[in-house]
Amino acid sequence: MLDDRLKDILVSLLGLERDDLSVEIPENQNFGDYTTNIAMRAFGDKNLFSRLPKEIEKGKSPQDLALSIASFLEKSKDLMQFVGKIEVKRPGFINFWLKEDTLIYNLRYLDTYKNKNIGRGKTVVIDYSSPNIAKNFSIGHLRSTIIGQALYNLYSFLGYRVIGDNHLGDWGSQFGALICEIINSNVSLDSLTVEKLEEMYVEFNRKAKEDPKLQDQARFWFKKLEDGDPKARKIWQTCRKISLEEFERIYKLLGVSFDFVLGESYYEDEMKALLKDKKLIENLEEGEAGAKIIRLDEFGIKTPLMVLKSDGATTYATRDLACLRFRMRRFSADIVIYEVGQEQTLHFKQVFAASRKLGIVPEDVILYHTQHGLYLDQSGHKFSTRKGGVVNLEDVLKEAIKKAKEIITNSATSRNLSSDKIEEVSEKVGIGAIKYFDLKHSVKSDIVFDWNKILSLEGNSGPYLQYTFARTFSVLKKAGSFKFDFKSAFEVNEDEKSLLRFIFHFEEVIKKAAFEFSPNLLCDFLFELCQKFNSFYDKYPILKEEDLKKRQLRLKLTEAVSLVLKKGLGILGIEAVEKM
Ligand code: ARG
Repeated sequence: MLDDRLKDILVSLLGLERDDLSVEIPENQNFGDYTTNIAMRAFGDKNLFSRLPKEIEKGKSPQDLALSIASFLEKSKDLMQFVGKIEVKRPGFINFWLKEDTLIYNLRYLDTYKNKNIGRGKTVVIDYSSPNIAKNFSIGHLRSTIIGQALYNLYSFLGYRVIGDNHLGDWGSQFGALICEIINSNVSLDSLTVEKLEEMYVEFNRKAKEDPKLQDQARFWFKKLEDGDPKARKIWQTCRKISLEEFERIYKLLGVSFDFVLGESYYEDEMKALLKDKKLIENLEEGEAGAKIIRLDEFGIKTPLMVLKSDGATTYATRDLACLRFRMRRFSADIVIYEVGQEQTLHFKQVFAASRKLGIVPEDVILYHTQHGLYLDQSGHKFSTRKGGVVNLEDVLKEAIKKAKEIITNSATSRNLSSDKIEEVSEKVGIGAIKYFDLKHSVKSDIVFDWNKILSLEGNSGPYLQYTFARTFSVLKKAGSFKFDFKSAFEVNEDEKSLLRFIFHFEEVIKKAAFEFSPNLLCDFLFELCQKFNSFYDKYPILKEEDLKKRQLRLKLTEAVSLVLKKGLGILGIEAVEKM
């Protein structure tokens, strides 16, 4: 990508190290295509300045230094091959403007990006979705599913080997309670549903408040489950199967699938091995009431991680440690991303710290917890899709499809769509709207759930992006095939140039969105691209342009916008529709 190449060239011309210098994309196109603040940095840093080539003069201000650096750089053939202009802006920014033919030439590669080098040979494991069995699929797990999938696609695009693992919550002492309740209430296993299971768990806890002995019974059953008792296993298996069937329906609606659905239960043996690990045993201490813990004070974490409860049962954290051990061994991960909500911040701090302390994860491997925010309702409370005590996410998704259908049936362009096609498009637009609304918010922020914004055709929404894509599609379809000669000279007007310059940064934005774990950066980019394209479309004739070369350039630009939108939406997990 050119930002990297520019950086390499600057570093070598100026005799610096990569860390000395940053190359950014200015927020405002008036400040060029790239900018660096190296003059400001070097002016205040003797050591840095002394390493610059002798011909560069410091002058009296960062601005003077910037001017001197700029005229030094202008002499480089290497650089000026693709840079058309270098400009210095107060108080000392050096801004680079790309040559027009570089911008146009870029269009050639839009179709076959060759940027697979960034991630070559590296592996990212993404832990996402991860709902709990015997409970309804919550809106929090929806966030995790949508963001996790987008991160998956971002890293894949960059050439990483990506492994998506749905870490189901299918193990733990709560299953002791559930088994206990199922046995005591004598229900037939065939009649169970996720709703029913959730009710039974609540019911158990209600009863256990009155009769504390029930908790002992639950512990007894979890122990049996862990020991492989056939009756306990059978009940647990049934709960798991029923839940997965329900989750599968949601994944199908969302168009999401996973490489692995291992779940917490998978790590039984791995936990046994972990508990025998020498380093773990060395670090294990006696906690309250005979629990076994690992202290993490040296990481600034006051709460120790509990490895074994006082009754000897393993914990959620034990399973996460065992799981990390497995992921390192099996996948040799370079990055492990946990797409999980903010409420588990302490848990992941503990797990990450313990995994370093025990040498499970080497220092150079990145462990990242996304800490996504909550959905809130209009009054600022935690959004819940609970109706009469039942969380039903499926209803929310179906509602989105229904609302999308209303929009599509009312749109002028949908008149010649068959009713089957309308159904299909409504599903893509409705689900796309939900996904986009989630992704356009920064991951850590809370989101106020608002149907009007989710489905708005005017604002920063999924339907708006899809509509713009459909517009490019229709122009290109009407145009049929057209010629474009990259070698010939084009007259490019201001708005065309602005679009060209904007499109140029597409891949760099993808890289940034991946490295900062922030799909919202890609959303911002695509939204602005649509705005730019739509105002261009309103201002200039494309198909009706009589000048052949102008028409070709405009069609080429439309094609570029179309390609970028399709790829960008695809990365966000949203299907582009050709007509709506
Ligand atoms: N099942 C958990 C929950 O719903 C999320 C699991 C996240 N992943 C993990 N490796 N702990 O809270």
